[in-house]
Formats: sequence, structure tokens, C-alpha cells
Amino acid sequence: MSTTGASGTPAPGPGTGTPTLLARAVDVSAVYGGGDRDFTAVDRVTLELGEGEILGLAGESGCGKTTLGNSLAMIANPPLYVVEGTLEIDGERIDLTTLRGDADLKRQRPYRGGVVSMLPQGAMNAISPTLRVRNLVHDVMRAHDRSVTRDEALDRARDRLTMLEMPVRVLDSYPHQLSGGMKQRVITVVSTLLNPRLLIADEPTSALDVSSQRMLVEMLLAMVEQRIMSGVVFVTHDLPVLSQVSDKLAIMNAGTIVETGPTEQLVHDPQHPYTRKLLSSVLDPTQETRARGRDRRTRSTPAGGDL
Ligand SMILES: Nc1ncnc2c1ncn2[C@@H]1O[C@H](COP(=O)(O)OP(=O)(O)O)[C@@H](O)[C@H]1O
Ligand SMILES: [Mg+2]
Repeated sequence: MSTTGASGTPAPGPGTGTPTLLARAVDVSAVYGGGDRDFTAVDRVTLELGEGEILGLAGESGCGKTTLGNSLAMIANPPLYVVEGTLEIDGERIDLTTLRGDADLKRQRPYRGGVVSMLPQGAMNAISPTLRVRNLVHDVMRAHDRSVTRDEALDRARDRLTMLEMPVRVLDSYPHQLSGGMKQRVITVVSTLLNPRLLIADEPTSALDVSSQRMLVEMLLAMVEQRIMSGVVFVTHDLPVLSQVSDKLAIMNAGTIVETGPTEQLVHDPQHPYTRKLLSSVLDPTQETRARGRDRRTRSTPAGGDL
């Protein structure tokens, strides 16, 4: 394991080269039920994350990434049930299971949002178009702490935006006035106003163009460096983005983690056949594209080159 993460954060472990453990999910299993048969979407997943680390969770669409994220963030709703698993964080062991009929889940409530926060896929498109961002800020904070006033919530949001070099005026904007990339960054800031220990970001870059992706990734790295949160599970099917941002990768296939390890090692020396397949499926189109580009260059006339 590297002593310095991809985020550039020095590992705080005292001379060991290994970051202090932030969170460990153990034997998490989750099923979709309700019909005649249960479908196991997450099957005994175990993961570890150090302080200041970004863990990339990669795998094809439908392999169970979102289900795992929802299970860890304790926001599983019927027909999804977590049937087994614990999350150890800050020395506490949280039971992740959702018992059927246990709709209230009081025992998990203190950890939800404040300790583990989920940034759901497509969150930026789910913001109410009739509310200014400032209202969203207050609603999000009040959901966890009824005593927070509007002014306190706004002060916190202003500080946070300034810290991250973002324009404070976005608070007065309606969602449609912001670009997709800005909306995604704003919703990321809002969902971490409570300083969660762990942020689970589900496909946060997938709907963005390349430059907006880069800005979001840089913001996430800055947030970890500034300890707004202490660790991130970054979920995506986009391996190139993940390999830029993650300290470690976990590769998921059909509900299980098939391989996990430091990003460099996993990308350059994958052990599991599925990891190799996933990496080659990413690289092949690029090679094809390059070949097409070469073909076009050789076909085009020097003066009329359209490249
Ligand atoms: N509400 C649901 N009911 C039944 N099955 C579901 C539901 N949501 C997801 N699934 C199934 O669970 C599996 C994992 O889905 P998901 O966690 O969304 O994968 P990913 O995020 O990796 O694309 C898929 O086979 C999907 O069809
Ligand atoms: Mg998903």
C-alpha cells in the first residue's frame, strides 16, 4: 500500500505507511424481495477504507454498486433488504441489517447523513426546480438537526463554498440557472455540510462532460484534503476516471467483490480474469478509435485534413 494516496494526502499512520482505518464493511449481503423469490444483489461484501482515502468501486452496470452504496449508507428501502452485515466506523460497529417491517430503523438514524452520507446517482436532476439552492441547504441540514436555523445553514454553506473556491451567489440561483457540472458540485457541497466521515458518491461524474468531471474530481480531492469528509467510496463504471482519483479500487461483479487493491497495482497487474476483462473493455475502444483516427489521417489530403 502506498504511503501517499492519489489524493496527495499523506497517510497518517505513524511511520507504518498504512493509513489509519476509517471504515470497514464486513459481510454485507442485500436482497431485493417481496415477490416469490429473493434476488441477492450484494453477496457478502467486505471492504476497508483508510483515513483520507478514496476507494473506487467499479463494475459493469447492474453488478450491484448502487445497492451496496445504499446498504452502506443505511438508506435501503423495500423491496431492498440488507440481510447481513456491519459497518465499523470510528471504533463503532453499526448493524446494517434492515429487518422486514422494521421501517423506522431508529438504531441507524444517528449515523445516516451525519456519519455516512450518500450522494445518489442523478441527484443533480432531482433538485426541485422551483426552489433556490439556499432553500435546499436549509432543508438538508434540518433533516438531520431540527434546531438548525436558516441563517446557520446558510452561513455554513457560504463558508463551505468559499473554502472550495466556488461562487457564493449559487445560493441564490434556481437549479436551471446552473450548468450540469456546477449543479453536481453544489449538490456535493450540500450533501456534505454535516461533515460526514464517509461520503458515498454514486456515479457523480457519469452525466458530466470531461472538463466538468475534472472539476468535480478536483473538488472531491480538496474536500478530503480539508477533511470535510475523511473518506469517499466513489462509485462508477468509468474506470479511467476512477484510476485518476482513487487510492484503492474494488472491482465488483454479480454482487461480489472479485478483487481489491491499490489502484496502480490493480490497473497494471490485475489478478482476477474479470478485472482484466473490465480493463480491456475500457481500453479496446480507445485502441479502435486510435486506429480509426490513423485511417482517417492516411486517407485525408494534407491541405484538407479535418483533424
Ligand atoms: N428495485 C429493484 N427491484 C429488484 N431488483 C433490483 C432493483 N433495483 C436493482 N435491482 C437489481 O439489482 C441488481 C443490482 O443493481 P444496481 O445496484 O442498481 O447495480 P449498479 O448500480 O451496479 O448498476 C441488478 O440486477 C438490478 O436489476
Ligand atoms: Mg448504479
